[in-house]
Amino acid sequence: MSTVLVTGATSGLGTWLARRLTADGHTVLVHGRDPAKVKALAADLNTDGFVADLASLADTRRLAGDVAARGRLDVLVNNAAVGFGRPGAPRQLSADGHELRWAVNYLAPVLLTRDLLPVLRASTPARVVNVGSLGQVSIDFDDLGMERGYDGITAYRRSKLALAAFTFDLAEELAGSGVTVTCIHPATFMDTAMVGEYGAAPLSTVDEGGVATLALVTGPEHAATNGEFFDGLSPTRAHPDAYDPGIRRRLRAATTL
Ligand SMILES: NC(=O)c1ccc[n+]([C@@H]2O[C@H](COP(=O)([O-])OP(=O)(O)OC[C@H]3O[C@@H](n4cnc5c(N)ncnc54)[C@H](OP(=O)(O)O)[C@@H]3O)[C@@H](O)[C@H]2O)c1
Repeated sequence: MSTVLVTGATSGLGTWLARRLTADGHTVLVHGRDPAKVKALAADLNTDGFVADLASLADTRRLAGDVAARGRLDVLVNNAAVGFGRPGAPRQLSADGHELRWAVNYLAPVLLTRDLLPVLRASTPARVVNVGSLGQVSIDFDDLGMERGYDGITAYRRSKLALAAFTFDLAEELAGSGVTVTCIHPATFMDTAMVGEYGAAPLSTVDEGGVATLALVTGPEHAATNGEFFDGLSPTRAHPDAYDPGIRRRLRAATTL
C-alpha cells in the first residue's frame, strides 16, 4: 500500500482521489488551503492533513518540509489549481508578486516536487502525477506576469503549458531513477468548483477524471510510465511548445523559486 500526497484534496477531483485511495487501503496525506476544510477531511479519512497556501512559495516550502518529515512518500499528486475564474475577473497576484495562476498551477508544483524529490527517491518505486490540462497556450516570456491583455483563461492555459513542459524536463532527469512523472488532462469540464465559478456547463463527471487520474497514481500498468501526457486514459501529445528544447530552456530560466 502506498503513501500518497494529494494537493487540493478539499474539493473536486482531489477529494474524489483522497476518498478513493483511502478506500483502496492507501495512506493519503490531504492538503488544502482552508484549515477548516482540511481538518474536516483529515478527520473523516482518519489521516494527516496539511494546510498551505500554494500562492506563497514560503508556505509551499514549509508544506514540503512537513511532508518530508513524515518519511515515506510513494506518490505526489500535484492536483491543486486555480481555474479560469469568473469571466472578466481582474488579474491577481500571489504573495510573492507572481501572476496567481502561474504561481499556484506552475511554480508551486515545481517547488513542491523539487523539495520532495529526496523523499520520493528514498521511497522508490515512486511517482509524481501532475494534473494538467489539454488547454495550453504558448507562454509570452516578455510578459510572464500578463500585465498586458490579461484574461484568466489564457493565464490558466499558460500555467498548464508550463506544467507539461516541467513534466517532460523532470522525466528526462529522473529516467532510470525509480521515480516517474506523468501529466494528465483528467476530463473536460468536470462538475467541480472551478468549472462552476467560470459558469460553464459540466461536460463530464469527476468520476471520469478520477478513474483516469487514479490509473496514473496507483495503476500497476503505469509503474514505469514516465514523461507521458494523458487525455483521460489515453496517451496523447501536449502542446508542441512543451517539447521544444529552446522554450523549455527559457522556461527553466524564468522559473524563479
Ligand atoms: N474541472 C475540470 O474540468 C478540469 C479539467 C482539466 C483539468 N483540471 C484540473 O484538475 C485539477 C483539480 O481541479 P478541480 O476541477 O477538482 O477544481 P476544484 O474543485 O476547484 O479544486 C481545486 C483545488 O485546489 C485548491 N486550491 C486552489 N487555490 C489554492 C491555493 N492558493 N493554495 C492551495 N490550494 C489551492 C482548492 O482549495 P479550496 O477547496 O480551498 O478551494 C481545491 O482544493 C486542477 O489541476 C485542474 O486544473 C480540471
